[in-house]
Amino acid sequence: MAKSRKILFVAAEGLPYIKSGGLADVIGSLPQALADEGYEVSVVLPLYSKIIAKFFDQLELVGTYVVKAAKFDTTTRLFSQKHKDVTFYFIEHAGYFERDGLYGYGDDGERFAFFQHAVYQIMMQRKDYPDVLHNHDWHTGMMAALARIRYASNKEIVKIRQIYTIHNLAFQGNFEADLLYSALELPMSLYHDGTLRFHNGISYMKAGIVFSDKISTVSNTYATEILGQAFGENMDSVLRERQHDLWGIVNGIDIESNDPKTDPIIFENYDVNSLEKKVKNKTGLQQQLGLRVSEDVCLVGLVSRLTWQKGINLILNKLKDIMGLDIQLVILGTGEQQYEYDLRNSENMYKRRMVYYGGYSDEVARKIYAGADLFLMPSMFEPCGISQLISMRYGTLPVVRETGGLKDTVEPYNQFEHKGTGFSFYNFDPEDFFHVLRMAVDLYYLNQKDFKMLQTNAMNVDVSWKKSAKLYIQMYQQAGMK
Ligand code: GLC
Repeated sequence: MAKSRKILFVAAEGLPYIKSGGLADVIGSLPQALADEGYEVSVVLPLYSKIIAKFFDQLELVGTYVVKAAKFDTTTRLFSQKHKDVTFYFIEHAGYFERDGLYGYGDDGERFAFFQHAVYQIMMQRKDYPDVLHNHDWHTGMMAALARIRYASNKEIVKIRQIYTIHNLAFQGNFEADLLYSALELPMSLYHDGTLRFHNGISYMKAGIVFSDKISTVSNTYATEILGQAFGENMDSVLRERQHDLWGIVNGIDIESNDPKTDPIIFENYDVNSLEKKVKNKTGLQQQLGLRVSEDVCLVGLVSRLTWQKGINLILNKLKDIMGLDIQLVILGTGEQQYEYDLRNSENMYKRRMVYYGGYSDEVARKIYAGADLFLMPSMFEPCGISQLISMRYGTLPVVRETGGLKDTVEPYNQFEHKGTGFSFYNFDPEDFFHVLRMAVDLYYLNQKDFKMLQTNAMNVDVSWKKSAKLYIQMYQQAGMK
């Protein structure tokens, strides 16, 4: 039965090769979890400069293929590498992908039109078709539309079940309508009759929602939130039309590589039975980053892209009060310039008590997950969130806003029932945020017994992909995978 089914993930980023956000974590770990269930899983990504710089020597050349559609008329090479049980493929196009960044270019619509056409045309030339195409975010939103219209004469392509997962509805891939004929080779009628029209142009995200067999997003709460105006990003009415095919499946993490018991990067390994060793990670981090070394102080961490979505302004807004608590604060991340600037200034104000690490470093991030006592994630919205899962796994209690996946994965402390895995607040309001942070810090200093209990609970939460992988398989089956 099912076992020999082939699933192909099409995405714009994935670990261990390339990462700009949480999407890469999912693409780097869910396929393996599906492979563990017995499926044949592969992933296809664009071959970006950054991948070439780090991995090119290890990649295998699969072949050279023709890509001909709309304005594209070129040959492209396909490379691959097996990573554990998953085969990763990379599609080359020097003009489109060998640039410093991943996205944010004026021709993004064209770049990802090329990528999606290339996936189908390589498939046809290799005569190797998956049973399921699992597409992710706007970059691959046209996959189902292309299969249904542009490639509809190919029986094998028509048979493929199309799944579309929304990791963040705020990034929609909205472009000028011309792209339909200039790059996608789809009829303009899709714009004129309103099917793909969005804000007077066309939307890749909308196409994914309209044409796929099943749609999912990365938590139950977010799946409900996006059906309403507040979180719907103007796409709520489109989503409501497909409500019966919309699933909410919460993300997991790779529990092997994120394990405080074996993590080779942190200062001292520990597990739920040797929590007392965790403090060595605090003092190690303090030393490394130039904070005052103290085992006792409550260390608060944050690892994030610094964007408005992540609620960084709540922190900046209350920074004086926050630093008025007896804590140390470590923030790691890059993003909007104003945030970076404000954080750098604040760091100077609170020497040896606050550090802003302005960059991305997997090493320092892990040391923060292991060394901190509390982890901040006061997001304005959060489809799922990965960091709170990692921090729980390391026994670092998340302080989160009750939205999206944060609400689904963090159980707030209940002092009467002695339950919980972290702390949460509801209103996106600096006072509410500060209030709950102070409560968490108080618990740390005044009730170590409950604090430890929460840490134990958090570390015992199952944050693996196992359950969610089974749900994805159910969704594939409901979409028609035999
Ligand atoms: C996006 C979302 C984040 C989610 C991730 C992976 O980055 O903002 O909440 O966890 O995708 O699905």
